[in-house]
Amino acid sequence: MYRVDRNNFYKEQKNATVYTPQRASEFLFSILERYIPVSGYVLDPCVGKGSLIEPFKRAGYAYMGIDIEDQGFPSTIIENYLTLDYNFFAESPSLVVMNPPFNVDQKTKSYIKEHYSGRPLLPEVWLMKTIELFGTKIPMVLFTPYGFRLNQSQNSKRWRKFILGHYPEISSIISLPKDVFDGILFHSEILIFNVDGLKAHYFLPDL
Ligand SMILES: C[S@@+](CC[C@H](N)C(=O)[O-])C[C@H]1O[C@@H](n2cnc3c(N)ncnc32)[C@H](O)[C@@H]1O
Repeated sequence: MYRVDRNNFYKEQKNATVYTPQRASEFLFSILERYIPVSGYVLDPCVGKGSLIEPFKRAGYAYMGIDIEDQGFPSTIIENYLTLDYNFFAESPSLVVMNPPFNVDQKTKSYIKEHYSGRPLLPEVWLMKTIELFGTKIPMVLFTPYGFRLNQSQNSKRWRKFILGHYPEISSIISLPKDVFDGILFHSEILIFNVDGLKAHYFLPDL
C-alpha cells in the first residue's frame, strides 16, 4: 500500500529559500540569450540572492530584482510583488524570470486568498500577476511543480484558462531531475512562454 509518511517529498517540501541551481540558470540563459534583446531589461520578481537572473546580469542586460526581503542581491527592490501595479515599472521588461516561493508568509497568504479565488498554486499566482501587469504576450520563464501542467481535471480553472487563451501557450518545457535542488527531492520543471524558436522540450544538461 502507498504510504505518504514514507514519501520524502512530504518531509522535504521546497521552501521559500531554495535557490535556482547554477546549471539551470546557465542553461536557461544559453537557450534564451539570442531571443531576448539586450536593449530591454530582465525582471525577477522574487529575486532572492539572484541565482536565476545572474547570467543575464553578467552578460550586460539591464535588470530589476524584487523580493519581499533582502537576501543579498545588489539593488534588490524590497516589495511584495503581488501588490504592485503597472505604474511601478517605467516600461515592460523584455523577459520575466520566476522561481516563485512554494511557501509564503501569513500576510501574503491572506492577500492571495482575498485577491485570487480558490487555492491556486503559488507559481500560478506569480503567473497571473505577471500577466495582469504586462499582458499575455510577455516572455516568461516559470519554475513549477509538475502538477501545474499535468494534474488537472477538465473543469479545473487552470485547465480552462489554458484552453480559453487566458494563459499563453507554453513555448518550451525544460525537464529537471528531481535532485536538481540542493538538499531536497522535488518534482519540478521550467515552463517558457512567448519565446518563439526554442525546441519544444529539453532535458536539463549537466553544466
Ligand atoms: C524559491 S526563491 C527563488 C529566489 C531566486 N529567484 C532564485 O532563483 O534563486 C523565492 C523567493 O521569493 C521571495 N518572495 C516570497 N514572497 C514574495 C513576494 N510576495 N514578493 C516578492 N518576493 C517574494 C522569497 O523571499 C524568496 O527569495
